[in-house]
Amino acid sequence: MEGNKKVIFSGIKPSGDLTLGNYLGAIKNWVKLQEEYECYFCVMDLHAITVKQEPKDLRRRSLELLAIYLASGIDPEKNTIFIQSHVPAHSEAGWMLTCSTYMGELSRMTQYKDKSKNSGESISAGLFNYPVLMAADILLYQTDLVPVGKDQLQHLEIARDIGERFNRIYSDTFVIPEAYVPKSGAKIMDMQDPTKKMSKSEENINGYILIMDPPEVIRKKVNRAVTDSLGEVKYNEEQLGVKNLMTILMTITGMSIKEIEEKYEGLGYAQFKNDVAEAIVSELEPIQVKIKGYTGNKAYLEEIYKKGSEKANYVANKTLRKMQKKIGFIPR
Ligand code: AMP
Ligand code: TRP
Repeated sequence: MEGNKKVIFSGIKPSGDLTLGNYLGAIKNWVKLQEEYECYFCVMDLHAITVKQEPKDLRRRSLELLAIYLASGIDPEKNTIFIQSHVPAHSEAGWMLTCSTYMGELSRMTQYKDKSKNSGESISAGLFNYPVLMAADILLYQTDLVPVGKDQLQHLEIARDIGERFNRIYSDTFVIPEAYVPKSGAKIMDMQDPTKKMSKSEENINGYILIMDPPEVIRKKVNRAVTDSLGEVKYNEEQLGVKNLMTILMTITGMSIKEIEEKYEGLGYAQFKNDVAEAIVSELEPIQVKIKGYTGNKAYLEEIYKKGSEKANYVANKTLRKMQKKIGFIPR
């Protein structure tokens, strides 16, 4: 939009404490992309309420998430950082797009299928409609690129379909976005069951590392991470636990698979795990200190999200007005 820079939009929902997976799969890449692109980073609170939230926890987590963005190195001078519910265009565009989205395509979303498995009839309609709101988020900013982890690819695909359909029915309105998945770290696995993705909703707390876990907890969890009896640091499908730890090490340090394999050849797992833990600690510890600083400074956070929402509202409303006009609503 501004100048010739391509546009990036991404966000995380403040529905639980963030994991190392969120950090390596999403935020760490945003930091790298902020120089080259016009970026919008959003706290997806409207998405968070698709599952039940305690109001005071939602408030606390929304601000904490903003603090995490800042502490991770997202520069509020260069990027637009804002809270989704502060830009009403998301809800309005979400409704308009809902009306040209099919029940069939939404019912094929694996995240919806997984989450609704045990809910029977009382599954929220919001959870079903979730991908349409996500499409609105992205399309409103004429986004070129959406940096997300692998689990969001299907949602990106449907966002493209929804955008293309609107363009077809009402003439060109939206840029059709591409997903941007990091080469390394796009899917960090559970450390107790490396066939599943690392997730904050996992029951076994040793399966995940939280961004706010203290160093001693990180060391303990890495030490307990499931490996195998082969005793070799090798990157392959037979050693999923080791592969996951290698991925974490690569994503943080930038080392290659080959470099890691060579470094730990013949050394077993103890030294390797120790180094993985130290890499995580040295990445997260300085961020944790900054997060605490920002969450203690509510006035500063407010300044950032207010400024962010002004810019976001301006840009989103331009697209929203086009949509309304093309659909046939009377201009206000
Ligand atoms: P969520 O917490 O579902 O809002 O996810 C926020 C972002 O983190 C999305 O871009 C996800 O793709 C990414 N993400 C979540 N879990 C992981 C994981 N285990 N590995 C890599 N990326 C992840
Ligand atoms: N659905 C995303 C997730 O669970 C969060 C999200 C909502 C998002 N809207 C978005 C991510 C727009 C990227 C772009 O991770």
